[in-house]
Amino acid sequence: MTPALRVARLVVRGFRNLDAVSVEPDPRANLFVGANGQGKTSLLEAVDFVATLRSFRGATRSQLVGHGVAQAAARMVVEGGDLAHEFRLTFDRKTRDATMDGKRPERAVHYYGAAACVVFHPQDLDLVRGSPDLRRRLLDRVLVRVVDGYGEALRSYARALKARNALLRGATVDPRAVAAYDPMLARFGSAIVRARIGLTDELLPAARAAADDIALSGSEVSIAYRTKSPTDAGEYREALARAYDTDRARTLTTIGPHADDVVIKWSGRLARDVASQGQTRAIALALRLAELEVLERRSGRLPWLLLDDVSSELDRERTARLFARIAAMEAQLWVTTTDPAVSALLPDAKRFVVHAGTVNAQ
Ligand SMILES: Nc1ncnc2c1ncn2[C@@H]1O[C@H](COP(=O)(O)OP(=O)(O)OP(=O)(O)O)[C@@H](O)[C@H]1O
Ligand SMILES: [Mg+2]
Repeated sequence: MTPALRVARLVVRGFRNLDAVSVEPDPRANLFVGANGQGKTSLLEAVDFVATLRSFRGATRSQLVGHGVAQAAARMVVEGGDLAHEFRLTFDRKTRDATMDGKRPERAVHYYGAAACVVFHPQDLDLVRGSPDLRRRLLDRVLVRVVDGYGEALRSYARALKARNALLRGATVDPRAVAAYDPMLARFGSAIVRARIGLTDELLPAARAAADDIALSGSEVSIAYRTKSPTDAGEYREALARAYDTDRARTLTTIGPHADDVVIKWSGRLARDVASQGQTRAIALALRLAELEVLERRSGRLPWLLLDDVSSELDRERTARLFARIAAMEAQLWVTTTDPAVSALLPDAKRFVVHAGTVNAQ
């Protein structure tokens, strides 16, 4: 069986309303109960922030640092199989310092790969209905963890894109100066697009199976990566050259992974147009479960799972099916809820009470 990654310890200071929190979670199921506004989402956000260095609520570092606090800090120990890693993070509004086992990671894949978790949270409805960047981020979350060089490619691509767009916005433009960025964009852009297409193809059957599993009345989910970018670097470069006049007119680079989307369909129609609220939730959840499955397959380690406010997300039957599916896996669970009755679904869970920014085992 695939070894499961588990958080053995988490210490957080000055992150949102969490002043000083220390949690020793159970290797399997953990339930965090608290009323609205006590810090449940913030706790999961902190865990995921250490793991991805991004907020799943799309928050900036300024929004994450506790009010009146100079600096946020976290320490997280992750175990899995015969491995154990210690992640340490400090950040303020301007700077961020992240280390793994006392060192700044040399390669992105080492850091992100060792802290693979999957989150399902209320704003995940936006995976189906929101802007394309959320869907691209779903893919990138997986790829930075399983493809060596992907995180670096994203960074290099973003840097070149920013510089090229700055030139395109200029009052006068030297086409050769713009084209000087094309080889770099083509190299990194085509690699990103290739990786994303491959991953989307892999997520598709897993998402379908998960959707079936949580009973979606025979409707079929499909996902497809939509891009104007060639996957061959040479052709990509030619496409950039052909698009130059359009790019100049629109003062931005129109072709590339930054402009791509994942098209989600529901029985052949665009899901955001036809899926009901509950169906939209179930599609989003199926995508997250697919993320987990593909991460496990590609990395050989089972990620842990963070489920925020799950009782408000699904009806009772779907919630029960979800928990049955999850219980069959060995993944560590962090489940938050306002509803103490949810503990019936996780009878063996370690229980914590979240209150006014504190987290205490019961
Ligand atoms: N940077 C910050 N510093 C201090 N407090 C903050 C910061 N950002 C948000 N908060 C506050 O932290 C509290 C906890 O928010 P959080 O979203 O974690 O609550 P929650 O327990 O998930 O509530 P709900 O059940 O409503 O989802 C809220 O009162 C929020 O206003
Ligand atoms: Mg919340």
